[in-house]
Amino acid sequence: MDLNDKTKEQYQSDSSAKKYYMTSIGKYRGKLKETLYSIYIAKYISYRERLIVNLMLKNIHPKTILDAPCGTGKLAYELTEINSQITCADISNSMISIAKEVYNIIGYKAVKFIQVDLEFTSERINETFDVIVCLRLMQRLTTLKQEIILREFSNISDFLIVSFALENNYHRMRRFFRRILFGGSDLYRSLQKSKKETERIIKQTHHIIQVKPVSRGLSSEWLYFLKTRN
Ligand SMILES: C[S@@+](CC[C@H](N)C(=O)[O-])C[C@H]1O[C@@H](n2cnc3c(N)ncnc32)[C@H](O)[C@@H]1O
Repeated sequence: MDLNDKTKEQYQSDSSAKKYYMTSIGKYRGKLKETLYSIYIAKYISYRERLIVNLMLKNIHPKTILDAPCGTGKLAYELTEINSQITCADISNSMISIAKEVYNIIGYKAVKFIQVDLEFTSERINETFDVIVCLRLMQRLTTLKQEIILREFSNISDFLIVSFALENNYHRMRRFFRRILFGGSDLYRSLQKSKKETERIIKQTHHIIQVKPVSRGLSSEWLYFLKTRN
């Protein structure tokens, strides 16, 4: 199984979906070592992602939003505040069913859910959107798959908010110590790219409007606000 397939497969079980939910917006119940990381650092990063997405969305006041991949609905609270029509898409039904519960709890009705492989977005989703939000997927894909999905997104939306992990020596070292302290693996290490290479890929399909680090010291993730090239 290559890393692209691993990315598709990783969250396909109810247990992995539940664990992902607990480390982003839910209450964490797990091993002490993992708990320290999951409660404080992962939650802080999730909070920063949501904050920056919220600020970027305010630039365009979207009426329609595609959250892809939606995961377990991490952005639900921020997206529902905008009062737009939301479409949540993910390849994993386990992730989607938790996202559905989150939107149910909020009581938001203008939302629909689609199980889709984003490599085939425009084949499966016959609508356009004011903006697409794509968090925490690109860093798990090869260059070719990143290019395919960016092109698919450019076919159905003029704006895209997307996260990439930008690799450097500091983050390589940070992840090494994180593994020693908190465990876990660095499965997608071979896919990580520099800022220069990432932006070369982005510029094939999009103009860069704004770039923001999620948390310089704690994460290699950066959020890009992009406009589709005509
Ligand atoms: C790390 S999670 C991120 C979820 C969400 N964006 C967030 O930030 O919480 C990665 C998600 O990508 C989904 N995924 C992976 N490959 C996919 C593909 N080809 N098409 C659609 N979803 C995919 C997984 O099922 C998982 O929900």
